[in-house]
Amino acid sequence: MPQPFDRDAEVLWHPASHFADQAVLPPVPIVRAAGAYLYDADGRPILDAISSWWTALHGHCHPRIVRAVQDQVGVLDHVMFAGFTHAPAIDLAERLLAVAGPGYGKVFYADCGSAAVEVAMKMAFQYHLQRGDPDRRRFAALRRGYHGETLGALAACGEPTFRAPFDPLLQPAVLLPVPSHPRHTTADLATDLGAASPEADAAVDLLREHAGSLAALVVEPAVQCAGRMNMPGSGYLRRVVEAAQSLGILVISDEIAVGLGRTTRLLAGQWAGIEPDFVCVSKALSGGILPLAAVVVRAGIETAFEGPPSRSFLHSHTFTGNPITCRAAAESLTMLTEPETGPRLARLADALAGAADRVAGACRAVEAVRSAGLIVAFDLAPWVREHVPGGRVSRAIRKAALARGLLLRPLHDTVYWMPPACLSDDDVAKLADRTAETIEAATGTG
Ligand SMILES: Cc1ncc(COP(=O)(O)O)c(C=O)c1O
Repeated sequence: MPQPFDRDAEVLWHPASHFADQAVLPPVPIVRAAGAYLYDADGRPILDAISSWWTALHGHCHPRIVRAVQDQVGVLDHVMFAGFTHAPAIDLAERLLAVAGPGYGKVFYADCGSAAVEVAMKMAFQYHLQRGDPDRRRFAALRRGYHGETLGALAACGEPTFRAPFDPLLQPAVLLPVPSHPRHTTADLATDLGAASPEADAAVDLLREHAGSLAALVVEPAVQCAGRMNMPGSGYLRRVVEAAQSLGILVISDEIAVGLGRTTRLLAGQWAGIEPDFVCVSKALSGGILPLAAVVVRAGIETAFEGPPSRSFLHSHTFTGNPITCRAAAESLTMLTEPETGPRLARLADALAGAADRVAGACRAVEAVRSAGLIVAFDLAPWVREHVPGGRVSRAIRKAALARGLLLRPLHDTVYWMPPACLSDDDVAKLADRTAETIEAATGTG
């Protein structure tokens, strides 16, 4: 008898997927999720080592977040956010401002990460324009950076793979070189790593050269996640951000993947002590349960938008400030800011780092391992490709991992973990064992 999922291939177009690959690795039907596990149509658990694209920070279907959604959905489902307001949106904005710190004054909601980055980019441009500086119309960004796939955010992506087919549509960004530290630990985040690198010198020179035409610099603090989990160093970040701000270039900190606990701090930029002009958050914001994004704006930026209506920020998304998503996010932030959460995240980060060392020690295919809080990356050696049909390392790892009840989705030859923070010690052990088996099986190095 045909199953409902059989029609997937006929009617659906999946993101970041090749049609041809779907014959080899068809989409896995998922019917339920709880904690760190997804359950397929046969009831088989799959350990979600990447929090379903870095969203499910507290774990799937967390009872507190589910309850918050249920409490809200029958009371006020949605109301347009132009000309109307509601308590969940105000409450969440106050919490986000508290997370960001004393220098921040306003929160602008969007509904996905790319949209948040677009909002910040447009606000930065219009800010300069209305302060009499119309020449600042370009953006600087870091090589290997990723900020989403709408045309504005994509233009700021320093990873050419994502941009390539669309290059003719994009306004070229000034791309700054970044250092990489293949072996990196969470402790390195608290150092000046990268400050004295040649890449930092070259980045500052480029900012100086283009200063008069730059509206903003867009950065991912701590970890360039889609950029194969590159960790350029807090010293590097501090230096480029301070250089930009001293040149009148606004700074957009894209915390969409790394913010809200991922690096064990509320914001990853706090490791470097930066004070960006815009902080973009999404993904884990709603606890990963519903689409929501926000731009936290430095106090005072809004004054450039005062005056006649033509000076207002004309940007809106239909579901901006949806009350249900705001309630979910408020509950997620409550959980994140409870006193026991910080130490719990730090303990899990240590456990993951220990487990990662065991994987690296056991697998000769692993060339380097690095971590930053709850993010761990394993670079596979270049020779591994020769052992994998068609050199398709990422696909081979995905397939071998699924066969072992594990969700991994490598970025080229970089296998990584970004798991829900609810992992037990047993889960961490399982994660390490299955990852090692997966790497060995997929690369024929067992
Ligand atoms: C750092 C960063 N910025 C922006 C985005 C785009 O977010 P979305 O996919 O929600 O548009 C992502 C998505 O992975 C991201 O990792």
